[in-house]
Amino acid sequence: MSDKNKVSRRQFLNYSLTGLGGFMAAGVLVPNLRFAVDPVFKKQSAAGGFVNVSLSVDDITDEPQRVDWEVEQVDGWYESDINRTAWVFKDDDGDIQAFSPVCKHLGCFVSWEGSDDHPDEFFCPCHNGRYYKDGTNVPHTPPLAPLDVFEQKVENGMLFLGEAKQREEA
Ligand code: FES
Repeated sequence: MSDKNKVSRRQFLNYSLTGLGGFMAAGVLVPNLRFAVDPVFKKQSAAGGFVNVSLSVDDITDEPQRVDWEVEQVDGWYESDINRTAWVFKDDDGDIQAFSPVCKHLGCFVSWEGSDDHPDEFFCPCHNGRYYKDGTNVPHTPPLAPLDVFEQKVENGMLFLGEAKQREEA
């Protein structure tokens, strides 16, 4: 090897330290950059998402049926699957209804015909809360508002549900 191609000890040390410094800087910067940017993109992609709840429209009758599904929830860096439930049926006009099961009194779980004393109603066992089939609260029972309604759409004959929304007439 000629003297021209030789790397001095000083040059070798400079190259090594520069490479090591760059490697360490990347190790610090890349995770921080991802931390700052990643949740923004994830929130955008999850916004307004509808989920196929694996229920064919043909299987929806006028009898409310319980439908359970999971949605992925992203909270900053924490990702988890949360369970959702709806009471789904077709009303007298043939329109699909999807009600939240969360009682509007103190948040217990309401069931369709959950009480033998009150057939054809949604019933909350916690404080005997009652709702008519259309989800409106029965007057003089603890709930003071109708059940929330899930956003919905139908694609290829399957029901997709979004977020549960409070009714405007509540
Ligand atoms: S929580 Fe449902 S009636 Fe009280």
